[in-house]
Amino acid sequence: MWRRIFSRGDKAFEIPAADSPLFERIDWERLPRHVAIIMDGNGRWAKGQGLLRTAGHTAGVKTLKNILKTAIGLKLDALTVYAFSTENWKRPATEVDFLMGLFSEYLKKELMEMHEDNVRIHFIGRIGELSPGLMRQMHEAEELMQGNTGVKFNVAVNYGGQDELLRAVRSLAREAAEGKVAPEAIDAALIESHLDTAGNLPVDLVIRTSGDERLSNFLLWQSAYAEFYFTPINWPEFTPEDFVTAMIDFAGRDRRFGGLTNQ
Ligand code: IPE
Ligand code: IPE
Ligand code: MG
Repeated sequence: MWRRIFSRGDKAFEIPAADSPLFERIDWERLPRHVAIIMDGNGRWAKGQGLLRTAGHTAGVKTLKNILKTAIGLKLDALTVYAFSTENWKRPATEVDFLMGLFSEYLKKELMEMHEDNVRIHFIGRIGELSPGLMRQMHEAEELMQGNTGVKFNVAVNYGGQDELLRAVRSLAREAAEGKVAPEAIDAALIESHLDTAGNLPVDLVIRTSGDERLSNFLLWQSAYAEFYFTPINWPEFTPEDFVTAMIDFAGRDRRFGGLTNQ
């Protein structure tokens, strides 16, 4: 399943399922630069298999690894994934604890390979409210990869778009109260520089698996002009081919940004 292909630039990458005929159809000039994924449907997949919801999360981790590899091969600029929302604390403590344990395990297991793949990991959300152990692991991973120049891999944990905007507004208000910034000087660029995703390009494409068609508080500001791709496939069954299918679909979109088509 793992094959070597040539992608943008002159470097070869190992990417999953690169021998699929689908890859021939990629328009390298029209790939999204920043893709965001709402990895949904782990629980429904598990139920369908007669398994516990937690087994769905474990299966979902494998999908994430394959999709990150594919994003590296496609030389995307950034991949941002929704792993845990500010609303997900409403779930039973056993599921929450299981998820936190899974994040920690994933980091431990995948850290060096991501680093070798030149990935630059960054965590977005209220990281300060996680357990000290997990927080330390996240900071260490960020530090290890901070000089890397490949795919920016943003993992949203305890993240909410409204919460992110609220924190940005508070910090700007503080700066204004301290006389560091004039209210008239607050513009879109300044707001962006106060978001957790500062330094990233706007989101070009949001993918949501499992059939629900909503944002669930993900990247509200950053997705202002994103294209949306919804698929009924549950996250544990979402393959690199499905990811490439979304890329091909995106390449056919007419992005007008409020203007007129350039034809
Ligand atoms: C997404 O799968 C993973 C997280 C939210 C952590 P779900 O757990 O939401 O799966 P469904 O939506 O219940 O099937
Ligand atoms: C969104 O999925 C959050 C993540 C994928 C981490 P949810 O399953 O929590 O979203 P809702 O509750 O269906 O909107
Ligand atoms: Mg869900």
